[in-house]
Order: sequence, then C-alpha cells, then structure tokens
Amino acid sequence: MKNQKLSQFNKNERPVFHLTPEKGWLNDPNGFSRYGGKYHLFYQYYPDATCWGPTRWGHAVSGDLIRWERLPDAIMPDRDYDIGGCFSGTAVTCEDGRHMLMYTGCRPDPDDRQGRGLQTQCIAFGNGTSYEKYHGNPVITGDKLPAGGDPHEFRDPKIWQETDGTYRAVIANHNETHGAQILLFRSGDGLQWEFEKVLADGEGKPGWMWECPDFFPLDGRDILMAGTMGEVHTICRIGDYDHETGTFLETAWQSMEQGFDFYAGQTVQAADGRRILIGWMQNPQTAERRGIDLPINGQMSIPRELTLRGGRILQKPVRELEAYRTDEIIYRDAKLRSEEEIRLNGIRGRTIDLELSVRADEAGPYELFRMRFASDGQQYTELRYEPAVSAVALDRSHAGPGAANRTEAKTDVRGRGGRLDVRILLDKLSAEIFINDGEQVMSAVIYTDRHAEDITFYVKGTAIMDIAKYRIKENK
Ligand code: FRU
Repeated sequence: MKNQKLSQFNKNERPVFHLTPEKGWLNDPNGFSRYGGKYHLFYQYYPDATCWGPTRWGHAVSGDLIRWERLPDAIMPDRDYDIGGCFSGTAVTCEDGRHMLMYTGCRPDPDDRQGRGLQTQCIAFGNGTSYEKYHGNPVITGDKLPAGGDPHEFRDPKIWQETDGTYRAVIANHNETHGAQILLFRSGDGLQWEFEKVLADGEGKPGWMWECPDFFPLDGRDILMAGTMGEVHTICRIGDYDHETGTFLETAWQSMEQGFDFYAGQTVQAADGRRILIGWMQNPQTAERRGIDLPINGQMSIPRELTLRGGRILQKPVRELEAYRTDEIIYRDAKLRSEEEIRLNGIRGRTIDLELSVRADEAGPYELFRMRFASDGQQYTELRYEPAVSAVALDRSHAGPGAANRTEAKTDVRGRGGRLDVRILLDKLSAEIFINDGEQVMSAVIYTDRHAEDITFYVKGTAIMDIAKYRIKENK
C-alpha cells in the first residue's frame, strides 16, 4: 500500500526540477559545495515520517544544479554526541583532498526544562560518497562559548579556509542578554578550535536567534546571511569583513524572501565564479501544517544566482534551468481589456517557466493586474499588482488543502510607470516568483490538486502583456 502511494506520487506529484527526499521529511540544505567536479548538496533528512525527527544528512550530487542524483546518506545520528540529530552545517575541501563536513551534534539534556538538547560542533571526513565521523568529536563544545552563550542554542557552523590555510567558522548562538549572535571561531587544522569574537549581534534586527549562518563575498562586499527565528525570515547583512582583524562592518541589510517558503539558505561558488543560493522551500512555522497526505514533506528551492546591484542583492533562477525549457509559446502585445478574465492558448501547466511583462497602454495607468495560476476555477493561487501603490501580493488562500498559517504575502516593488516583469516557476507543489529582475522573490508551497493547471489574466483598466512560456522537461 505504502509503495503504491510512493509510486503514484513519483508519477504525478513529485516535483521535477526541485530536489526532494526519496521519502519522508527534508529540511535545511547542508554542505552545499563543489567537490570532485560535482555539486554536492546534503540535507536535513528524516525518512521514517513526514514530520521532523532526529535528522541525518541525506546526500545528492549534480552536474548542473537542476538534475540531482541521490547518494547514500552521509552521516547518521548514531553517537552519544549526535543521537538527537546531525543538525545543519557546511563543507570544505581539505588540503589533502578530503571532503570535510562540519555539523552540529545534538544530544538530549535531561536537565533542560524546555527539553532542548545540548549542541556541539562535530567533523566528518569523506571522499564524496562515504563519510566517517572524526574520532575526536565533538570539536567545539559549550565551554568555548563567551559569557552568557546558551549551549542549547549553538549550531549550524559555516566553515571556510583563509588564504593562509587556517580555518574559520561562524556559528549561531543565543546570548542571554544580547539575544541573537553570530560567533567567529578559528582553527589551524580544522580540528582544534578557539573562540575569536562575536562577529555580529542581533541589535536592531528581527529574531531572537539567527540560525544557519552563511558568510560569503559577493561583488566586492561581504554578506552575512542567516535565518531569523521568531518572525521567520532569511536576512542578509551587507558589509565588509577585515580578514586580519576578523571584524565585520555592516552597512545595510535586506530580506531575501518576500513570500512564505524559503529558509536556512546556503551558498556555493560555481566554477565560473557565480555565487549560488539554495534554501529549504518551507519554513519552520509552516512546514508541519498541511491537510494533505503525501509520502514526502519538504523540497529545496530553485538555486538562485546572486548579484549585488545598487547596494541590493538580486536573485535569479540559475541559468542552467534554461537548458530544460521546451515547447516555447510566445505572446507579444497581448491586449487586456477591463474586467475580462482571459486565458491564452497554451499558457497553462504545473511544470513551467513563464516570463511575463505587463505595462500600461495609451489609455493610461491601470488600477490592478491579477493573474491566477495552478487554477481550476475553484482552486488557484493569485498574484496581484497595484501600480498606484507599487505593491505585489501573493495569495494562496484558495490554493487547496494544507492551510498554512499565512496565506497572503505582500511586497513593495520599484515603481516603473506601471510596468511589472515577473518570472514564475511552477513545479507541481510550488510557485517561485522573481519580480523585476530578481529585486524581490516570493516563494510558496501549494498543495493544489495537480489537475488545476489553468492560468488566467485580469485587469482593471487596460494593459498590454508579453509572455514567454516553456514547459520544463525531465531531462535535457
Ligand atoms: C533550521 C534548523 C537548524 C538546525 C536544523 C535541525 O531549520 O532548526 O538550526 O540545525 O534545523 O534540523
């Protein structure tokens, strides 16, 4: 019975170009890296149920960030120091060629009144297919924390190597007086670690704890990214890091997601230098709420290329996706008449890549543009744009079962005289919307019935629209 459900799911519902677990639960991306000529992506994985349980690291490899091959699970929660879960972490290549994983081991703490585990940092070495835990684990324990640091909220190391061969790691921690803090540790060999300093604290920022930090250079600046707990967000702090003194000076910050479902992001640098971000297309507040019984719960976002322009980070789907486009359908200068809901021949589907540009015509500004997709008339997800207030809304209140705690997300966009450009990726259980060249991104998991494939357009006033739509195929 169970297998039948899985094979039905594989045939009909399983996302085609997003990484999903074979079965059960997936959360954060881990160890996103290039090793042995391939991209490696590990992930928080619990195959025995579709809810969170003590996580292991699942493992997948890809040549192009779109088509993933699952490999045997890399590390299991099977030691006293990680029996509560092999939590999130990252990967580097060591001087001797080994792939080194740094992760958080969580073990139960009978003395903690909130039932939280004790979190320590651990190491595993591997060759790209199999991994072994370091015999000296854990390598960083709570006694290395600065005063006030909570050892139950101490996780998700991001490790990197400096040009002199020494290692650094930034690790998330909660401080009893300052709240969220990101700690910088240093090591000569990756195994003996010393606390260096608080790289950044939470003052003036949302979230009582910042999980899953990443720290990376982008177009001449340095970016500290993290998932904020409390009100869930992925935020990036844009600044400059002094490698000598280990000081990070922040000049601006921004939220990386204006929709619902993107969290715990990690980046990798592609061979051609691009900085690529992937996230868990879910978030801790919505992940366990759904009114539908599927054999999996969790998927990764489309990898996003990052660039910095005018002090803002822009995000676009990785260009590798374009090799999977087929069945192109183009409309130029399609006229939208007031309050008439229209469909366009061939513009439909649930595994598609769609580029749309809408603008005012000679009659002047329009009041509202609305698009419904994954629609059968009853179920649909709605994107609305109101040029007068430069606001975009994504509404999944009619998207079918699995009522999430938030059904509407809104974002301000740059006013461009009534012009809006969006790129929409639909892949069975999700929609990802890249607005105005990636200035904003809105992601939503939707459990809409898979037969709901229609797309409709509606305007108050009149407008003109260009569309290019592609089906995404399974293989190049
Ligand atoms: C974020 C997170 C991480 C932790 C992992 C456990 O979603 O809570 O901080 O390492 O999930 O699965």
